[in-house]
Amino acid sequence: MINYKILTKRVAVIIAGLIGLMAVVFIGLYYFQEHPEALKKSERTITIWQPRNVDEDMANAFIMPDVKYGYDLLTQTQRYLGPQAENPQMRLSGNNLKCTSCHLDSGNRPGSGSWAGVTQRYPSFRGRSNAMGSIQDRINGCMERSMNGEKLDIDSREMRAMVAYMDWLSEGIPEDEVENVSGYTNLEPPNMAVDLGKGQQIFTTHCIECHQEDGQGLKHEDFKDGYVYPPLWGDDTFNDGAGMNRVLTAAQFIKANMPYLLATRENPVLTDEEAYHVAGYINSFKRPEKANKDKDYPDLKLKPVSTPYGPWEDDFTAEQHKFGPFPPIIAYYKEKYDIKKSK
Ligand code: HEC
Ligand code: HEC
Repeated sequence: MINYKILTKRVAVIIAGLIGLMAVVFIGLYYFQEHPEALKKSERTITIWQPRNVDEDMANAFIMPDVKYGYDLLTQTQRYLGPQAENPQMRLSGNNLKCTSCHLDSGNRPGSGSWAGVTQRYPSFRGRSNAMGSIQDRINGCMERSMNGEKLDIDSREMRAMVAYMDWLSEGIPEDEVENVSGYTNLEPPNMAVDLGKGQQIFTTHCIECHQEDGQGLKHEDFKDGYVYPPLWGDDTFNDGAGMNRVLTAAQFIKANMPYLLATRENPVLTDEEAYHVAGYINSFKRPEKANKDKDYPDLKLKPVSTPYGPWEDDFTAEQHKFGPFPPIIAYYKEKYDIKKSK
């Protein structure tokens, strides 16, 4: 038996509730129409951007396949693109590093060449080619130098996946955050040449625990997994055309990120001077040689001062371009061309 009295009462309560809710929505809409600035303000307070928690999100079944494949390629590069790749045609990377050997925390760490926001900053001007370059060109720059390998095809599934992952990391990032997380850190180049003796001391104290005395790092038991601690020089590392082979760039990276898990950009362990000497030390050893480096920087004025290979637009020696002191070279470009250089 249906009790119509109770039913009518319930329906009435629900209808009254709905009318009340609609009234609140309409009043709200009316209010924000009259006061659009209030809406802007409330939007700003709710969209506080947080970097993604990559590992947690990757376990999520709803992650796009391209993004997941990009993540795998970037964090396990040796397995998919390196000398160990199953398909010989995919062996485009020449060493067993991972992209994330230098772009730490899956490319998501501020001060470690973070990829959050990176796809928004390209295309951008590149001094190395003296032309506008796309994100794909930039990735290929690291393929040919940091990975001592060959370019990926721009339209390949691998290239699309890498960019998809970077896009995914960048979702919703505000402009001022892009500037904040990108690059490494500031470093005041000391007005002296690298002291290799000091560099070796710092290396022994702060680095050999992981990268080993011979700088060759430590391999995973199953080398398909690559390195636990990557090598810093020798045959299986970045080539001499890489950014990391410039003393000032390496010093900036090291200051913000090494020793691993101890140093952060906000709380570095090494002083500017220590980072500088140890950067010189690791780059004093032999590593693979890139061909045609003399074609880099068609406008020689734009060549970073610590690029250790010629030609240069100035008369400083090759030795000084490799090991400093850099302040006189920086001062020369400031005075002659009004170009401010930091690396
Ligand atoms: C040996 C270290 C190293 C490795 C390995 C490496 N990179 Fe880089 N990467 C760098 C350096 C150095 C820069 C330039 C940073 C600078 O000049 O501020 C850079 C810059 C970049 C940039 C541009 C970042 C920006 O903010 O403009 C992208 C994108 C990039 N790398 C992608 C990759 C990819 C993809 C791989 C793997 C295929 C890779 N990198 C491997 C060292 C490395
Ligand atoms: C606690 C271990 C540890 C210590 C100590 C340490 N590193 Fe590293 N380093 C790493 C790891 C791990 C990576 C790569 C990150 C990854 O693969 O996730 C790395 C990456 C690097 C890279 C970029 C990758 C490459 O192969 O060139 C450089 C350069 C580097 N370290 C230099 C140094 C220097 C210089 C010191 C001493 C001041 C140092 N590290 C101390 C663990 C360490």
